[in-house]
Amino acid sequence: MKTICVKNAEKLQGNVWIQGSKNTILPVIAATLLGDGISYIHNCPMIEDVEVMRQLLACMNVTTTLENHVLMIDVSHARYAKLPCELTTKLRSSVLLLAPILAKWGRVELGVPGGCNIGLRPIDIHLKGLEKMQVTMHEENCVLTGETKRLVGTVMQLRFPSVGATENLIMAAVTAHGNTILRGVAKEPEIVELCNYLNAMGAHIEGVGTDVLIIHGVVSLHSCDYCNVYDRIVAGTYLLAAAAIKSDIRLYGITDITYIKNVIKTATDLGVNVIKMDQCLWIRSYGQVREGDFKTGIYPNFPTDLLSVLIVVLTQADKNSTIKEMIFENRFSILTELEKLGASFVLDKEQVLIKGMCSLDGNDVCATDLRQGAALVIAGLLSRGETNVKNISYIARGYEDIVRDLKDLGTDIEYV
Ligand code: EPZ
Repeated sequence: MKTICVKNAEKLQGNVWIQGSKNTILPVIAATLLGDGISYIHNCPMIEDVEVMRQLLACMNVTTTLENHVLMIDVSHARYAKLPCELTTKLRSSVLLLAPILAKWGRVELGVPGGCNIGLRPIDIHLKGLEKMQVTMHEENCVLTGETKRLVGTVMQLRFPSVGATENLIMAAVTAHGNTILRGVAKEPEIVELCNYLNAMGAHIEGVGTDVLIIHGVVSLHSCDYCNVYDRIVAGTYLLAAAAIKSDIRLYGITDITYIKNVIKTATDLGVNVIKMDQCLWIRSYGQVREGDFKTGIYPNFPTDLLSVLIVVLTQADKNSTIKEMIFENRFSILTELEKLGASFVLDKEQVLIKGMCSLDGNDVCATDLRQGAALVIAGLLSRGETNVKNISYIARGYEDIVRDLKDLGTDIEYV
C-alpha cells in the first residue's frame, strides 16, 4: 500500500483513541539499555520508527516483543555491537543510542542518524556535550565513533535547547562519575517523561521541566516499566483539522491536557470549542476558520511538528494569515504540494503568508516527510473530489494508522 485515497469531508463525527507518543517512546527505548533486565513499556505505538529501534536493539542481542501495544525489552544478554548505517539512517532517534552505549560499554560505533528532511539537523550539541564528559568522538565516512575511560560529570550551557541533545546528555550524565549541570536544556514533554522514567530506574535528576537540570551520577540503574503518554502531535493533527471541518468529535487517551495546552490555545483561536471531559477531549466546531498570525517555537510554544497541518487549515480561513517557522529550515515543502490542490502562498524566508478562503480541488500529491504527509491527508479532506496522497511510508513512521483514525471520525478514506 503506497497511496491513501481521501475524499472531501463535510463533517468529522465520532471518537478516536490517540496512540502513544512516538517522540517519548524512542528515547525511553534507548534508556532501557541503561537498566539490567526486563522492562515493559505500555501504550507503545505500532509505528515504523519503533520497529527500526527494535532492529537496532536486536543488533546488540537485546530481545524485544511487541504485542497489544506492550513492548517488552530484555537487556539481560546485551552485548556490544557496531550499529550499521543501513539502520541508523532510517530514523533520527538512532542518535539517542550514543549515550546509553557509551555508558554501558565505554565505546560506540554508530552510523549517522537519518530522519525527516526538514533542515540541516546537525548533531554538534550532542557531540560537544559528550566530549565535555570525557568522550573522544570522531566522525568518518558517515560513522560516529566514540570512546571513554569513564563518563565524567560536567557543567554545560547548551547553545540551543535541542530536544535530542538534551536527551543524549541526560542519559550520559545519569551514571557518570560526579555531578552534571546542564543549562539551557529543552523542556519539551518528551524530556520530562524521559527524566521521570530515568528517576524511576534509580537516577537522580533534579530540575525536571525547567531549563537547568542537575544530575547526580549514580553507580547503576535498574530496569523499570513505563506507561507511555499520548502523542500530542497526533492529537493536535485532529484537533486542528476540526477547525476547518464542521466537527463533533471525542479524542480519548488524553490523560492530562498540560502537554497539549499550546495546541488547544491555537485551535481555540481558530474557532474550535474544546471541552475537557473525564475520559476525553470533546471538540466541536462549525468549520469556520478565523485567520491569525502564528509562529512555531520551543515548548511551550506552538510545535513545529504541527506547522504543516496549521498551514493546511489556514487555507480555509476567512482572511489571509501568516506563520513563522522558528526551528527548522525546510519545513515548507508542503507548499508546492498544496499549490497542486489550488492553495496559494507567499514565502519570505522563514515566514509564509497563506491566502485564505481557498477552494481546494483534489489531485495527486506526494508525502516527503512524516508531518507534511499527514497534513496532506487533512488537505484531502478539505478538497473537492478525491485526493491521492502518495509515498505514505513516511506517514507510517509516526502515525499508527491515520486511515483508521479518520474512518473512526466518519470520513471516506482508504489505502489503495
Ligand atoms: C525532535 O527532533 C523531534 N524528534 C522532532 O520531531 C521535533 O520537530 C524537534 O525535536 C523539535 O521539537 C524526535 O523527538 C525524535 P532538535 P530533534 O535537536 O531532537 C538544531 C517528528 O516529526 N540543532 O531540538 O532532532 C536543529 O538543526 C520530528 O516527530 C543543532 O543545531 O530536534 C534544529 O534547527 C521531526 N545542533 C533545532 O536545533 C544539534 O546538535 C531543533 O532540533 C541539535 C539540534
